[in-house]
Amino acid sequence: MKLAPTVKLNNGYEMPVLGLGTYNSKDNEGEAAVKHAIDVGYRHIDTAFLDTYKAMEKLVKLGLVRSIGVSNFNSEQLALVLANCEITPVTNQVECSPALNQKALTAFYKENGVTLTGYTPLGKPKPDIQKPDFIYSTEVAVIAKKYGKTAPQIVLRYLVGLGVIPILKSSNTNRISENFDIFDSELTAEEMAVLDGFHTGEGVVPLNLIKGLSHKYYPFAIEF
Ligand SMILES: NC(=O)c1ccc[n+]([C@@H]2O[C@H](COP(=O)([O-])OP(=O)(O)OC[C@H]3O[C@@H](n4cnc5c(N)ncnc54)[C@H](OP(=O)(O)O)[C@@H]3O)[C@@H](O)[C@H]2O)c1
Repeated sequence: MKLAPTVKLNNGYEMPVLGLGTYNSKDNEGEAAVKHAIDVGYRHIDTAFLDTYKAMEKLVKLGLVRSIGVSNFNSEQLALVLANCEITPVTNQVECSPALNQKALTAFYKENGVTLTGYTPLGKPKPDIQKPDFIYSTEVAVIAKKYGKTAPQIVLRYLVGLGVIPILKSSNTNRISENFDIFDSELTAEEMAVLDGFHTGEGVVPLNLIKGLSHKYYPFAIEF
């Protein structure tokens, strides 16, 4: 079985550069999707944990946990963790797609040895209204045709090319397999630039709803 390439984390362990998301999977769909994903070669599965960072550090020391990651942390929040923690998080998971490519945050995290995991990488495709543009555009279709790939595969290849670790959700076995079949080609600089052209800075996950609550830790009020 072919496994995905990996990226070396700051604690020496390796993490596959493509993962499967499970949020909002219905009934037993999640279990079946994870089983199929493992069968085709995924070794990076994203689920939700609720314990605090310090508690996770204790688990690392006990040898019960290998790596700690955070999610939806902006650059200031990472700086706070770095100043107060003993173990640097290996990754930060934020929304990342061609429309919200997170180049500044990726660069900041890279400087600190932290990888960026990108959720909602396909922007939750909606075939009925042909959105988001980067999935249904003519430009991406032309690139996809050249490589004999689909637009979602080109988007995932673009994100991996940026150094992002996309985690996409699918409960469909064909699409789980399709999304994994991206490691046999790389986009040219010109093709990467075409995908760069879809950056608007706007994501689709409505985390801005909590902005209205004026939460003191709301992470998206600054540039990155
Ligand atoms: N940390 C956080 O705050 C946070 C927030 C949001 C998401 N996440 C994580 O990120 C994961 C992925 O994000 P997401 O589910 O929001 O968005 P996504 O992966 O961009 O999109 C998921 C949608 O795309 C469809 N899809 C998958 N592959 C496709 C393909 N090749 N062609 C066409 N459609 C395709 C799926 O349908 P089918 O299932 O029918 O294939 C599903 O409706 C979540 O499951 C969750 O684990 C984390």
